Order: sequence, then structure tokens, then C-alpha cells
Amino acid sequence: LRTHRIACIPGDGIGPEVIGATLKVLETLERSLKTFKLDFTQLPWGSDYYRSQGRYMPTDGIQLLKQHDAILFGAVGDKDVPDHISLWELLLAIRGQMQLYVNVRPVRTLPGIQPLIATPVKPIDWVIIRENSEGEYAGQGGRTHVGQPWECATEVAIYTRHGVGRIMRFAFETALSRPQKSLIVVTKSNAMRNGMVLWDEIATEISKDYPSVTMEKMLVDAMTVRMVKNPHTIDTIVGTNLQMDILSDLAAALAGSIGIASSSNIDPSRQSPSFFEPVHGSAFDITGKGVANPLGAIWSATEMLRWLKEDDAADRLMSAIEKVCEGNILTRDLGGHAGTLDVADAISKELSQSI
Ligand code: NAD
Ligand code: IPM
Ligand code: MN
Repeated sequence: LRTHRIACIPGDGIGPEVIGATLKVLETLERSLKTFKLDFTQLPWGSDYYRSQGRYMPTDGIQLLKQHDAILFGAVGDKDVPDHISLWELLLAIRGQMQLYVNVRPVRTLPGIQPLIATPVKPIDWVIIRENSEGEYAGQGGRTHVGQPWECATEVAIYTRHGVGRIMRFAFETALSRPQKSLIVVTKSNAMRNGMVLWDEIATEISKDYPSVTMEKMLVDAMTVRMVKNPHTIDTIVGTNLQMDILSDLAAALAGSIGIASSSNIDPSRQSPSFFEPVHGSAFDITGKGVANPLGAIWSATEMLRWLKEDDAADRLMSAIEKVCEGNILTRDLGGHAGTLDVADAISKELSQSI
């Protein structure tokens, strides 16, 4: 039996609820297919752990994660801890220290889910490739004269030829594998005359190696309009860490809800385990109510299975998700009345009936 070691970090807020639902459906899939086994290590890292241990993960946390084949993550962020502490000690520490430099965020309209766009000509089918290690998230900058009227704070965006080149190649490869073979390189190179110009130049250089991919450059402000007005003209998108953070939330809402969006943080060299999580956060307003949409987390689990080369399992799980959406078993964010576990149970039932 193929066995995959998975580190599971449910985290904060609705994280444990959506991960609980995901573990349920994964267990059904494993039990029904009998072709693979997921060997989970449950890690209680997050804000409660911080309150008792004074840190978000143990000092050897990254070493421990590296003993796994993949990481499944819920959310982090707590009302009583400043976000720049919680996020930088856990989520951003993992992404950065393991150089998971690719972030893939697929955006698709699922059957039974009404997109926010009034009259889509065709269903939305995009892939957002987010650079995941540089830009404003490189952690460069600082504050001087704190509290003085002349206090100064800088948030320096870093772009390197190495960092931009590797994400651009990944984006061209992704575009090559897609039906439209088109890539939109999103920047803000009219106002930002250094890093963003480097992005544009590297895009032009690398495009020469991919003559069958149609490459277009777009400014991020205009891109928001295009996403709403002409969604069917978009296929693969690549852009910076911060700009794609923002566009991917917009994209999720356009496709139906932030609650369905998935995010894969990948090390293409497979030296570090890749890290799968829903796009959404802790969602304080609905925590503990049992109403969080688990589809973002479950969709992320399908991407994890694909990364682990369990394509059959990934396909079956994705089609079970689609069947359940089509059957209108939807959480409140999608206009339905189902709870988190109702959705998980419906997906599990669909899986056990279809295998
Ligand atoms: P959020 O994604 O937590 O919530 C935004 C809105 O979307 C809320 O109204 C929430 O109820 C709704 N929502 C989110 N996920 C949902 C789901 N699965 N089902 C139904 N509705 C859902 O974003 P926020 O409010 O900006 O952030 C809250 C906390 O989470 C902050 O501490 C933030 O830093 C953190 N955060 C963490 C991650 C992460 O762990 N990956 C991502 C984003 C935000
Ligand atoms: C995301 C989140 C994170 C990010 C935050 C919580 C640091 O918004 O994964 O989209 O900005 O990358
Ligand atoms: Mn985000």
C-alpha cells in the first residue's frame, strides 16, 4: 500500500472545523479505494499553543515538517494576538523557510454554485500563480523614531532575477498544460519602476522559450476590471506575492465564495514537503458555529492528493465535491443552509456510493 506521511495543522478559528471535515472525507476515500494510506501527524500549533508555549511552533518545527510528504493546514490568526506575530511565526515562517516559492490558486465555477458575475459567457476556469517568497513578503523594512512625529516605516519589496525567473518558468509551464495556452503577466510597472520592470523584462525573455504560449502583460488595476467584465478571456495569471494575494480573494468571491478557494504552496523540486490550505483565514465571525464552508479545505486536499500522484483519488474527490454542489448541499456563504459537517457527510456518502 502506498503510504504518504501528512503533517496536519488545523490551527485557529474555523481551521479545526474545516480540517475536521476534510479528514472525514479523506478517511472515506482511503477506506473505499484501498490503494493508498495517509499517515497523519496531528500538530496542535497555533494561537492556543502560543499562549501555553510562548511560540507558534517548536524550535525544531521546520525539521519536523520536513519528515513529511505534505502538509495540510487550516488557518491561523487570533483576535487576541497581533496578526504580524501569528502569521510570521507560523504560516509565513513555513512558506519562507521551506522556500515554497510557488502558490497555485485555481478558480473555477462549480456546478450548482452561482458566480458573482452576472452573465458569464463560459464557466470561469483560471489558475492564479502567486510568487510566494519575495515582494513585500520578503520581510525587509523597518521602523525608526517609533512614536515620534517624524517616525518612518518602510516595507521594502524585494525582487530577484532568480526569484522572478523561477516563478515565471513555472507559470509558462502551467500555461502550456492548459487548453487556452495563454498567460497574463500582471504587474504595476507603470508606477513601480524597478522590481516591476524586472518582472516585465524577465517575462519577455522567458516567453521566447515558449512560442506556443500567448503571453500578455497587464497592469493589476486594469486586471481587476477584466476579471469582472471579461472573465472568459482569462486562463493562467502570474503575479507578485501581494498583488496575487489580493486578486485571488477577488477571484474566489467572483467564482462563488472565499469559502471554496484552495491554495497550494509548492516546492517544485520536492526537497521540502508542499503545503496545502484553503485561501480563507480564521473567520472569527463564524468560528464555532459549525457553518464554515469546508470546500476550500477539501479542494486543497484534492490538490494535495494530486501532488502525491494519487490522481485517481483526487479525481474522485473532486467529482464528489461537484456532485454535492450540484445537489445544492451548500453552506450559508453560498446561499444554502447546510452546516460544515453536512457537506462533509454528503461528500463521504457520494464517495462510498461511487467507489
Ligand atoms: P477571513 O478569510 O478569515 O474572513 C473573511 C470573511 O469571509 C468573513 O466574513 C468570514 O466569515 C468569511 N469566510 C472565510 N472563510 C469562510 C468559510 N470557509 N466559509 C464561510 N465563510 C467564510 O479573513 P479576515 O477576516 O481578513 O481574517 C481573519 C483572521 O485570519 C486574521 O487574523 C487574518 O490575518 C487571518 N488570515 C489567515 C489566513 C490563513 O491562515 N491562511 C488567511 C487569511 C486571513
Ligand atoms: C493568504 C493569506 C496570507 C497571505 C496572510 C494571512 C499572511 O491572506 O494566504 O492569502 O497574505 O499570504
Ligand atoms: Mn489572502
